[in-house]
Amino acid sequence: MKYFLDSAKINEIREAYDTFGIDGVTTNPNHIMLSGKPFKEVLKDMVEFVEEKDIVGYEKFPISVEINPHLDDVDEMVAMGSEIAAMCDNFVIKIPCTQSGITAARILEKKGVRTNVTLVFSASQAIVPAKNGSLFVSPFIGWKENSGEDCKEYIQDIVDIYKNYGFYGKTQIICAAVRNGKQFVDCARAGADIVTAGLQVYKDSMYHPFTDYGMAKFQGAWDKTVTE
Ligand code: E4P
Repeated sequence: MKYFLDSAKINEIREAYDTFGIDGVTTNPNHIMLSGKPFKEVLKDMVEFVEEKDIVGYEKFPISVEINPHLDDVDEMVAMGSEIAAMCDNFVIKIPCTQSGITAARILEKKGVRTNVTLVFSASQAIVPAKNGSLFVSPFIGWKENSGEDCKEYIQDIVDIYKNYGFYGKTQIICAAVRNGKQFVDCARAGADIVTAGLQVYKDSMYHPFTDYGMAKFQGAWDKTVTE
């Protein structure tokens, strides 16, 4: 299972790449706002990052960039998606799972622009993006589980449906808004291709108090041992 970082902050992307070996990045308008930088400047940071790390191309390191969420006209959505995609080979165009969104995503894919259909909250919503050939589909996990739903069956349904019809691996399933290590495990068990989460979630998922306990114990033993 691949790990994507859900952030538009370049310092977080660097840290997540160097520490966790993240395989890609997802952003959304909220992340761009939280970066405190203008939209185009964030994209420029990303271009410099992939060039510096020698990971140019969406096959090596996909970066999902969402179009203006106010757009609902298909032609305008396609125009903005095409414009962003032309800036960097790593950019995958994130488009909402609305009727105009999936229409625009279908057109963009036919033009060779890779897409990520986002704001997916049910297995039925995940089928059309796969039929239309989107590179990614982003079913949200954290928002649903925060509201009390258990997402295991929902993830498993999407994986099973994709396997039944030959979509599995072609349209890759990004379990989005993942909030904790338990959800990483649920996604991995179900066979999701990718999870995307914030940097702190990756850090928290790697923490266990027994690791600290073991470190203290072994340091104490080391100190009482002749090692020279
Ligand atoms: C998906 O790709 C979204 O960017 C993301 O997971 C949204 O979740 P958030 O609530 O963590 O921003």
